[in-house]
This record gives sequence, structure tokens and C-alpha cells, in this order.
Amino acid sequence: MAAPPFFQSGRATAAAPPLFRSGPTIEPGARTAADLHFYEPGKGHGLRHNPFKAIVAPRPIGWISTRSAGGVNNLAPYSFFNAFCEAPPIVGFACASDNRDTLHNVEQTGEFVFNLVTRALAERMNATSASVAPDVDEFTLAGLTPAPSRLIAAPRVAQSPVSFECRRTDVLQLRAADGSPAPAWLVLGEVIGVHLDKALLRDGTYDTAAAQHLARAGGLGDYFWVCADTMMQMKRPG
Ligand SMILES: Cc1cc2nc3c(=O)[nH]c(=O)nc-3n(C[C@H](O)[C@H](O)[C@H](O)COP(=O)(O)O)c2cc1C
Repeated sequence: MAAPPFFQSGRATAAAPPLFRSGPTIEPGARTAADLHFYEPGKGHGLRHNPFKAIVAPRPIGWISTRSAGGVNNLAPYSFFNAFCEAPPIVGFACASDNRDTLHNVEQTGEFVFNLVTRALAERMNATSASVAPDVDEFTLAGLTPAPSRLIAAPRVAQSPVSFECRRTDVLQLRAADGSPAPAWLVLGEVIGVHLDKALLRDGTYDTAAAQHLARAGGLGDYFWVCADTMMQMKRPG
């Protein structure tokens, strides 16, 4: 795919259009109420597809590996995933049901591993999202290799270039604004060990674009992946 004219050598060399998409350029001017579709999610979105997950996108994918108390390995993707604290490093993901094996395993063992999903691992990540019985090992299902962690019993994905060994800090059931319980559980864990492919280090700096991180978008199967062509640099105001 040819890079847009304002990019050279994979880096932005001039200001890119402020907002753009795969159709016409979206101008950044102020919008009037007539330009906006407004809805209250509790009353429906009034659109063909709920835009929520297409708007909060792209989302990093937490490919979470755990081991049950009985010793069965488990692996599943979670795109309600992010980092929440740098020191100590804390990551979290949300389970949209209490029937997730991942949730049960973390509650029982207090451990999980975040594995990075890259473009090259997209199809195998997808295979691990199959709804299968708790005694089914998704590593085997997707042709992946469980590798031992150093500090916890839960395995990491040997094919993933980055893994975080995590110890659970909190499991919180989410609530609506009126205080009523939501069918969602936020699992938070401190990163206590990091495995990092040395090939992704350039002079001691981790190269995100080279790793081609995969991210979830909207719809049933929309994804983006990170590449140097869409990278830009911007300094914070002093
Ligand atoms: C890309 C992707 C992202 C997903 N994100 C979530 C998520 O954030 N929360 C969730 O509950 N399920 C999510 N799912 C669905 C789970 O991966 C799926 O239900 C899986 O079977 C759960 O496995 P487990 O029961 O072994 O934990 C996602 C699926 C895919 C393919």
C-alpha cells in the first residue's frame, strides 16, 4: 500500500489532515446540533449498529492466559483492556459475563498473563475466542505453545513477542450510574514480570510499529494494526 504524500520513510514529515477516514475528509470545524446524532444509550442508539465499540477504537487486545486451580491452561482475547498505572504497572480487562473461564481462573489463582497480539497472530488469537468447555485448552485449539512463566504458574504464549506476568490486585463488578450492578467484572493486576523479544528493541527503545500490534475496532470483525506509515510525533506544550 502506497504511503500518503505527507509521509516519507514511514514518518510524518508535514501536518496530516486533522481528521480523515477511508471516505471523504472530515473537516475539523465546529459542529451544530443539526450535524450531530444524539442518543441516550439507555433508550437505544437509533442506528443500524451500536457505534460504541467502533468509537472507543482501536482498542488494544489483552490476550489473557491463565491456569485453572486444576491445572488446565486457558487463553482468550479481551479488548476491554488497557493499562491504568505506570508505577506500579497495572493492567486490566473486563469480562462481559461471569461465565468466563478467565475470570474464574483469576479469582481462584490470583494470576494471569497478558500476551501481545500482533498482526501475525491475529487468526490464532481469534481462534482462542471460541466458546469451549473449561477443560478445553485453547493453546492446543489454536496451535499455540504454552511457555512457562518465571514468577507465576499461568503460562505465557511462546509465539507472542511480549508477555506480562501479572498478579491480581482487584476484581470489581461494574455498576451503572444509579448503582445497579452491571454484568461486567473488571480484573486488575500488577505486572510483576515482563518478557520482551529483543528483536523489538532499537537502541534500548521498544519499537511498537515493528511489532505490528493488532487492535480491535467496531463491527463483528473490524481490526487495525499498527505500522510505521501511520505514526506521528508530537511534543507536549512546555
Ligand atoms: C478480539 C476479541 C475481543 C474480545 N473482548 C472481550 C472482552 O473485552 N470481554 C469479554 O467478556 N469477552 C471478549 N471477547 C470474547 C471472549 O474472548 C470469549 O467469550 C471467550 O470465549 C472467553 O473465554 P474464556 O471463557 O476462556 O475466558 C472478545 C473476543 C474477541 C475475538
